[in-house]
Amino acid sequence: MIPQSFIQDLLGRVDIVDVIERDVPLRKAGANYTACCPFHSEKTASFTVAPAKQFYHCFGCGAHGNAIGFVMEHGGMSFVEAIHDLAGRVGMQVPVQEPAFPSRGGDKSPTENSAIGHAGHSLERLLEAVDVAARYYREQLRRSERAISYLKQRGMTGETAARFAIGYAPAGWRGLEAAFPDYAAASRSSQLAAAGLVVESGEGGRYDRFRDRIMFPILDLKGRIVAFGGRVLEQGEPKYLNSPETPLFQKGRELYNLFAARRAIREAGRVVVVEGYMDVVALAQHGIGYAVAALGTAVTAFHIQKLLRHADIVVFCFDGDKAGRKAAWRALEESLAQLQDGKQVSFLFLPEGEDPDSYVRKAGRKAFEGLLDQALPLSVFLLRELEARTDLTTSEGRARLVRDAKPLLTRLVAPGLTLMLLKQLAEISGTSQGELEDLLKIRRPAFPSSREKAPRPRPASPQHWLIQILMHDPGYARKLDRALLAQQFGHAEEGALRALVEFIDAHPHLEKERVVPSAIVYFQDSPHRSLIYKTQSETLAWDDGIDLEAEFTGALARLREMHRKQRMASLHSRPLSTLTAEEKRELQRLALLS
Ligand code: UTP
Ligand code: MN
Repeated sequence: MIPQSFIQDLLGRVDIVDVIERDVPLRKAGANYTACCPFHSEKTASFTVAPAKQFYHCFGCGAHGNAIGFVMEHGGMSFVEAIHDLAGRVGMQVPVQEPAFPSRGGDKSPTENSAIGHAGHSLERLLEAVDVAARYYREQLRRSERAISYLKQRGMTGETAARFAIGYAPAGWRGLEAAFPDYAAASRSSQLAAAGLVVESGEGGRYDRFRDRIMFPILDLKGRIVAFGGRVLEQGEPKYLNSPETPLFQKGRELYNLFAARRAIREAGRVVVVEGYMDVVALAQHGIGYAVAALGTAVTAFHIQKLLRHADIVVFCFDGDKAGRKAAWRALEESLAQLQDGKQVSFLFLPEGEDPDSYVRKAGRKAFEGLLDQALPLSVFLLRELEARTDLTTSEGRARLVRDAKPLLTRLVAPGLTLMLLKQLAEISGTSQGELEDLLKIRRPAFPSSREKAPRPRPASPQHWLIQILMHDPGYARKLDRALLAQQFGHAEEGALRALVEFIDAHPHLEKERVVPSAIVYFQDSPHRSLIYKTQSETLAWDDGIDLEAEFTGALARLREMHRKQRMASLHSRPLSTLTAEEKRELQRLALLS
């Protein structure tokens, strides 16, 4: 284990510009440096290094990180190797510290800190537990004729089941006790619960989460099993049960099969996104190894960004029904801000009643790939859907088309695609492109660089907005209304915001310039890590010209408003007669504020 304090010192000593410059020639651009990105092939420089923040970010492929991250990614080193490499460059000696607990792989430094949400379970240990469970489930599949015949009846070969490490969780409440003899011991039990394998009931009881289900292990991009999806064999609700969100697993970030599919994706030059586990598995069995699936959630912008990093073409394949169209539209909306010229997103709708699993089994690989080749490009799907909503024979209908298109076009960042869509929209609506641009007040993204000048998109939640501000100037933590901060809104970002404030509170003497690099180390193993990184990338382009005070006031006002609405809704949800006089006054006061 390497002490955190040493890592902080090291990051204080190295300069990211020197570190990157050794491998990649950098060009000065204002306060930052740019280059063609070393992580993907490109002709214009979208790779940016910000010395003030000791952070790099590529606007093309989304790669980002600090000096340690760069050495790991670019030099193909582990965390510990990267530390040694950097320390060697600045002449520092890496101290050795006895581990507080035995560690398996030993190339990570798990941060055992409940303040960042691990409740004392190291990631290493959780991974180990999930791994043991996966082996147990596979062994149980071998022993269950019923489970085997279910898979056979669905057309799955033994080879495919082995390839996807498919298993079976037997019926009964404590099957996992066979794999974990200390199952009922408090520390093991809470670990298994943290890994999502066991449900702890209030009175100190516990039982297996997955019972009598076919088990699909979910791997992260490092090839480690982090979660499971479990399907009932016959009828039953829910049909698929997934692991809950754990320190290892965030649904909105992982994709089923992406790890194993990487090579096939590269070879095919495209990735197809389907809806179900069985779709992925059946396609692979029929020779289409480049399919992945979202895990019981809608496709997120994060998913799309990740996929576009692996392939130039992403095809979303949905059922042809109403739900499928709706899911596709959501995926389209999420794609707009991720698409760069040269990348392509398209949509395939299967005939009513079919899914990729049933289709490929019936029609075979060639037929399915034929459909993929003819998938609707995003621009076609977009215009077609908008047209279907209006009557283009009337002026009002055409005006509506233009109005509906506006919020979509403003999300686009790819200049070429924006231009093409504007031209087509002008044609359909019977206007000139110039008129349309005036009407929509769209500033088309400029062709070469200068993406930094595009209007800054507002984060969806005030919590996210506040994280951006705090990453830029942690001094604002002191001005935050702590009572407001403690409110629960059920937003994904609120936990991250609280953790960030705790971090800033705990390090009052940290210089402003050091907060971001330190936070990045501090959140290294935290579930909030990705959000902190993402926010950091978003604020890279902020310069001294930004009116932070106005941003802070704006974000806080939105948070207050959110709290006001929530409080009113909660008071309104009760019968008036049960409200105390005090609560009635509060309700009146809150209503007046609107
Ligand atoms: P579908 O209900 O479309 O099922 O769910 P499917 O994939 O065709 O499954 P089979 O063929 O009946 O086995 C699609 C996906 O939605 C998620 C799962 O990821 C599933 O693969 N899902 C579905 C859930 O997470 N929970 C559910 O209860 C149902
Ligand atoms: Mn199916």
